[in-house]
This record gives sequence, C-alpha cells and structure tokens, in this order.
Amino acid sequence: MRQPQDIVLLLKAAGEITRLRLLALLVQGELSVKDFTEILGQSQPRISRHLKLLADAGLVTRHAEGAWAYYRLNRDRTSGALAEWLMDHLDTDASELRRDLEKLSGLRAAQQERAATFFATIAQSWDKLRSLHVAESALETAIVAAAGQGPVEMFLDLGTGTGRMLELLAGKYTQGIGLDSSREMLSVARAKLDAEGIENAQVRLGNITELGDYHGSSDLVMLHQVLHYFDDPSIAIAHAASCLKPEGRMLVVDFAPHDLEFLRSEQAHRRLGMSHEQMALWADAAGLSVASCKSFPPSREDGLTVCLWALETIKPNHTKGV
Ligand SMILES: C[S@@+](CC[C@H](N)C(=O)[O-])C[C@H]1O[C@@H](n2cnc3c(N)ncnc32)[C@H](O)[C@@H]1O
Repeated sequence: MRQPQDIVLLLKAAGEITRLRLLALLVQGELSVKDFTEILGQSQPRISRHLKLLADAGLVTRHAEGAWAYYRLNRDRTSGALAEWLMDHLDTDASELRRDLEKLSGLRAAQQERAATFFATIAQSWDKLRSLHVAESALETAIVAAAGQGPVEMFLDLGTGTGRMLELLAGKYTQGIGLDSSREMLSVARAKLDAEGIENAQVRLGNITELGDYHGSSDLVMLHQVLHYFDDPSIAIAHAASCLKPEGRMLVVDFAPHDLEFLRSEQAHRRLGMSHEQMALWADAAGLSVASCKSFPPSREDGLTVCLWALETIKPNHTKGV
C-alpha cells in the first residue's frame, strides 16, 4: 500500500498531456530521451523534466548509458497497474497520440535502415571485426558447453550474420536455421556453410520481430552479438522466447556495460552493453529465468568484456537467482 501523498504524486505525474504522451510511447518499449525529443519535437531539458516527474512518482525507471538515458515503464503493482489502466482507457487513435506512434515507427525504421547499411558494408569483413574486441576461443568453448548435452532437434540462430554460430554448433543440432535481416550478411553465411559442407543448416532472410513461423519450434535459440542493435532488447528476447519449446534454452551473448560511445555513431550500436540485472529483468518479462551467466574479459586493452547468459523457461514454483 502507498501513502496518500505518494498516490497524489503518482496521479499528478500522470495527469498532464505531455507526460501521458510519454507514457503512451513507453508502452511500446524502452526509449531514450533522444527518441522522445525527436518524436515530440520538444527540447531535451523539457522532456527530461517531464521524465523526472514520472520517475519520481515511480511510473517509469531510468537507466543511464553513456551519453544517453533510457526509460521504461515501471511494471510494479501500483505504478504498473495505473499505467496499464491509463493505456487501456486512452484512445491511441486520438490524432496527437497516433502521430507520436507513427513517428516512433518511422524512427525505428530509420534506425534499422542505418544498421542494415552498416552490415551491407562490412559483411565481407565481419568475421574479422567480430573477433576484434573479444577473446573468442574461450567464449566459443563455453558456448558449446552451454548448448548442453541433450538432443537439439532444432536450433534457431537469430541475427545469424555470417553464420558463425551455425558453424560452431553444427555437430550439436539436427536442423539449424539462421535468420537475419541483411541479405549481404546472409550471402557470406551461405558461401561459408557451403564451403564447410554443413548440410544440416540453412539461412533465411527475416526479422527478429516477425517470428510467427517459428513459434514453439526450437530446442535452442541463440542471440549472439545482436541485442545491442535494439533500443529495447527485451522485445527481441520476448520474440526469441516465443520460438522455444517448453524445455528449450536460449543463449545470449553480448557486451557487458561499456562506454565506447563511438560504437553508436560508427557501428550502428544502440545499447552500450547490458548488465546482469537488466538481463534478469528482460528474461523475466519473457517468462524466462537466467540459469547461468559467465563473463569473458577482453583479449586486449581496448577490448570489451563479453557475457554469455543461458536462459530457461520459468517453471511453476521454480525460482532461480542470477
Ligand atoms: C553483429 S552481427 C552478429 C552476427 C552473428 N550473430 C555473429 O555473432 O557473428 C548482428 C546481426 O544481427 C542482424 N540483425 C540486426 N537486427 C536484426 C533484426 N531486427 N532482425 C534480424 N536480424 C537482425 C544484423 O543484420 C547482423 O547480421
């Protein structure tokens, strides 16, 4: 239960048109202050003031990351329930809100386009680029171990790029499918799988946010160095989770939090790594728990720490710590 003054704070925070617009946008997922300023066309200090009021009232939570700050709806019992009630009763067809949502999808499309252009340019050199920041051999040994001993009838590698994970785990699965939105990356992957004589894998063009054909299909799903291209990685995790069989397992490999801001401007990254706490939160929202996580320090001074998380479906009466 909340104190009356806290409830007043909550209602006051929600009771203003710009803040309602911000909340309606946050229903779509995590957004940065930069996204809000572009969508609403208001100055950064003004947007930040509104977001601070929402955060002080507990309606949203803030996560600072390099030069950007991300916000997400707080899903706790009081604030989450109020936000949900507001959104259930808010007519998102009202012209201002509809325009905001249209601008958001335009913004997302432009960001995807930038990432696609980047991958089209570097497709041929990606295998070299990937190993630049990371001690690969220890990580890959751990990935093979984390894939488990059990039979993997179907392995789904989301954001497969040049197909390295299909190649690495080829001896583990009966059928492997690598999905990616970049034709250029896939053509490198196809050539590589052919050259290696890997016949139990194929690659397909597709988007991680449209996985209807793969629902409930896979024993093992992989997101290897893909999540940092999403403003809201929890969306990709939720889509990936929908592809798991009930006993299935997901492996996520990505950077630990870092401050290499230039990766945003030069290599289309959106998130500067992710913490164990964030992963636990995102997994939980997708009905998964973190079964294990391991960190791999960089092989050189200017490298980055990489983490391998194994996620499993939450079973009734079953709780697991990070
Ligand atoms: C950094 S590469 C990683 C490739 C591979 N997993 C690896 O580690 O070598 C990220 C890949 O994710 C793909 N990607 C990014 N967003 C995607 C999306 N929404 N749907 C499908 N693929 C996506 C990119 O095209 C790119 O090939």
